[in-house]
Amino acid sequence: MTPYDRIRLKLRESPRTWLITGVAGFIGSNLLETLLKLDQRVVGLDNFATGYRRNLDEVKALVEPSQWNQFTFIEGDICDFDGCRRVCEYVDYVLHEAALGSVPRSIADPIAANAANVTGFVNMLVAARDAKVRRFVYAASSSTYGDHPGLPKVEDVMGKPLSPYAVTKFVNELYADVFARCYGMETIGLRYFNVFGPRQDPNGAYAAVIPKWTAAMINGEPVFINGDGETSRDFCYVANAVQANLLAATTRSAQAINQVYNVAVGERTSLRELYEHLRRLLTPRFPHLEKAKPQYREFRPGDVRHSLADIHKAIACLGYSPSHRVDQGLALAMPWYIASSI
Ligand SMILES: NC(=O)c1ccc[n+]([C@@H]2O[C@H](COP(=O)([O-])OP(=O)(O)OC[C@H]3O[C@@H](n4cnc5c(N)ncnc54)[C@H](O)[C@@H]3O)[C@@H](O)[C@H]2O)c1
Repeated sequence: MTPYDRIRLKLRESPRTWLITGVAGFIGSNLLETLLKLDQRVVGLDNFATGYRRNLDEVKALVEPSQWNQFTFIEGDICDFDGCRRVCEYVDYVLHEAALGSVPRSIADPIAANAANVTGFVNMLVAARDAKVRRFVYAASSSTYGDHPGLPKVEDVMGKPLSPYAVTKFVNELYADVFARCYGMETIGLRYFNVFGPRQDPNGAYAAVIPKWTAAMINGEPVFINGDGETSRDFCYVANAVQANLLAATTRSAQAINQVYNVAVGERTSLRELYEHLRRLLTPRFPHLEKAKPQYREFRPGDVRHSLADIHKAIACLGYSPSHRVDQGLALAMPWYIASSI
């Protein structure tokens, strides 16, 4: 039995109350689905800045009615401190996902990024502190490694941030660390590396690469690769990120708490390889992709060139063990991508 199996068993036996901020978003709604299927009580907060009510409806359809009844949704903004206080009441664990994601969005609008990702973050920390929650687990980011060229990325070897988004995510880590020191809070930051899976928004200027390309390929539209195609990422299926959250929230190991962890698979895929993976998966259903080719264009400002995680710290301290490699995750997510694109 893995540590994750044990945790799920224990949670089923004695359900807890969880707060998920950003619950209508991609990762938040996947956390919701897993927790409700484990018969947990969940409070969710979202202002629909980038999330969707349809994500919540989709989760509703995937769980039992009795499990759905354990979910309370509150529409609200983490920039509203009183609202943060209200949602933290009687909560055991906070999974803080709400933020404005995307490097280019933050370059276009650093004020909005700072408001949600820094002010909103501090609001949530204070509200969670005052409500005496057991643990505050938050979404950090691999973008924090910035311009450091070393590979694989190890948690305490960092460069300078390359975007306002990366600054906000680094500031989150600094605040979480200071709240542990000053107020004795228990926090854990999860530096996600390019998470993908069902319910990740394929639309809009700031869509992530996998849902965006998949939708474009299905609809016979051009797929653009920024740069020469050798840019690489450690793409992480969302089930791995969900696992990391549950392990981080419940770990009893003193050394594991008040730390940050890479959450990824520990394998690198270039954009060129990713395109081929997707093309191969989609071609049987969409024969027009048989001979499709991507179009290359300029590198995008703020993007890091290569990203690959060293995941040994999460393995050693949290008992993390990624359940899905990139190709397995892509195959599992494909029916959702197809259904949402046609
Ligand atoms: N997806 C990734 O690859 C990735 C990588 C690194 C870090 N992250 C971080 O993980 C978290 C979740 O990302 P995601 O991919 O699910 O993005 P998402 O945009 O799908 O989800 C974010 C959710 O937060 C909500 N939100 C934004 N601002 C809010 C505010 N002020 N008040 C209340 N709700 C607000 C949005 O409406 C949305 O539902 C974010 O913190 C993101 O920065 C994601």
